[in-house]
Amino acid sequence: MKSQPRLNRERAKELLAEVDLLVSRAQQPAALRKNVVQLLNLEPTYNWVGLYLLKGGELRLDSWNGPAPTTHTSIALGKGICGFAAKSGRTEIVSDVSKDPRYLQCFASTRSEITVPVMHEGKVVAEIDIDGDVVNAHSSVDREFLEALAAKISKFCV
Ligand code: SME
Repeated sequence: MKSQPRLNRERAKELLAEVDLLVSRAQQPAALRKNVVQLLNLEPTYNWVGLYLLKGGELRLDSWNGPAPTTHTSIALGKGICGFAAKSGRTEIVSDVSKDPRYLQCFASTRSEITVPVMHEGKVVAEIDIDGDVVNAHSSVDREFLEALAAKISKFCV
């Protein structure tokens, strides 16, 4: 099995500083979202990164970066790991997608997944979805990092 370095706290801090820089450049919201997704996809365990916006009661794919497009460009609330997290407003870390019956497959290479709701004024407005190509790719470090990142970009997701 491939081994990939997981995110550590030091790198998470650097990435948050890079996000602060992107935010301070006061870009158009769509450009900011695209740049953040691109930045995340550079991480070794963030093999596919997507940002979904919650529109009309469903998740709609806004920006993505990775080796291939997904067919899941819209996901109903409650469906899949993405829809589950969007409904509950809580981050989901799935260390082995083959063992989670909620999982909607996009890529044969995916082994694990982290899904983080983006909240604005107490409501879910978007979601960050990241697929990893190794089992157990993400930890509480990723959760804390991505939740902090979500707070920074939430005003660009409404
Ligand atoms: N696996 C997700 C669907 C989105 S793709 O990973 C891009 C899910 O179970 O909701």
